[in-house]
Amino acid sequence: MTRKMRVGMIGCGQIAKIVHVPDYAFCPEAELVALCDLIPEKAHALADKWAPAAAIYTDYKKMLREAPLDAVTVAVPNWLHARITIDALRAGCHVNVEKPMAASSAEAQKMIDAAKKAGKLLNVDQSQRLFPIHIKAKEVIDSGILGRILHVTAMFGHEGPEYWSPTGKWFFRKKEARFGAMADLGVHKADLVRYLTGKEVGEINAFFERLEKKNTDVEDNFVACLKFTDGTIGTLAASWTVKGMEANYTILHCENGTLRIGEIPGKPLVAELVKPRCRIKFDVPEPVTNYADSWGLDVSTAFVRAAMGLQPPYCPGEEGKKSLEVILAAEKAALTGRTVKLK
Ligand SMILES: NC(=O)c1ccc[n+]([C@@H]2O[C@H](COP(=O)([O-])OP(=O)(O)OC[C@H]3O[C@@H](n4cnc5c(N)ncnc54)[C@H](O)[C@@H]3O)[C@@H](O)[C@H]2O)c1
Repeated sequence: MTRKMRVGMIGCGQIAKIVHVPDYAFCPEAELVALCDLIPEKAHALADKWAPAAAIYTDYKKMLREAPLDAVTVAVPNWLHARITIDALRAGCHVNVEKPMAASSAEAQKMIDAAKKAGKLLNVDQSQRLFPIHIKAKEVIDSGILGRILHVTAMFGHEGPEYWSPTGKWFFRKKEARFGAMADLGVHKADLVRYLTGKEVGEINAFFERLEKKNTDVEDNFVACLKFTDGTIGTLAASWTVKGMEANYTILHCENGTLRIGEIPGKPLVAELVKPRCRIKFDVPEPVTNYADSWGLDVSTAFVRAAMGLQPPYCPGEEGKKSLEVILAAEKAALTGRTVKLK
């Protein structure tokens, strides 16, 4: 048997606690050997629960120098993604970096180039690709039963990062987060619509506003109109001012019917067809929410197995870059009041 991949966690905040570290602990191919956070208590708390023998660091560079690592997950504030990812790749690690992969397209390209030079995997944790509901939706779309996709609606909203991460003040600071709701939530749906439809956004118009959040220089609401390169149209929206249940849905109106993904409570995935006129309800779990204790998506196993060459990566760096470029173009469109064409 091949030996386990020795993995490290850089950033032991909320997403590490809910997703990455438990996933690593349950991954038969991985051994979590080191955890790093500026706040050592956070790394210790995760180690105590999931990996008692792991070494604890507060300086990620020291960890990259000293710990025997094959791979790391980078889950720190957005402005540090590129720097830490490139350092880890240069240190010989495969990297799974959180979304949005970088603060600019140029940074994203440097990360991709560093991965190529190092001969290591760079994956971006666009985790919505691994939701069971989205895996099934992709199967339905790829089966061709819905025919040509004509109109796409995607929305992701919740009450805001202050209800998610106790240390997440950085989400509200543009310098560290780069965007508000767009980077936090919009990039998920930008990626998901590209992934599900297999289409690329060609042109974009957008608005963003700060409607409710105080003491912040980022937007709390965002909406964009998309025209895909084949003429399909759609909207992409993100909000930090959604009260009550999270809004986390995608709707595809197609030639032969409609696919409703996460739109109807209690009926997570529904296809409404016109010929024959019928409604198919798929037996899949509801989308995971910010209020869950654990997501159980197995993102770390998917990453580790891809790094071992056992399966394709779920979101290679190039894909993460394209999704990032959609929100960067939306920002440009909103700031200029003009339609922006993507390359
Ligand atoms: N894929 C998803 O669904 C998803 C969901 C939520 C957040 N995220 C992303 O995950 C990343 C982290 O978000 P979070 O919610 O866990 O934030 P968080 O604030 O809860 O955690 C971030 C952690 O990084 C640590 N940190 C900061 N600088 C560091 C450094 N130089 N070295 C080591 N540790 C450092 C902080 O102390 C903190 O513990 C963000 O990029 C966010 O966009 C992804």
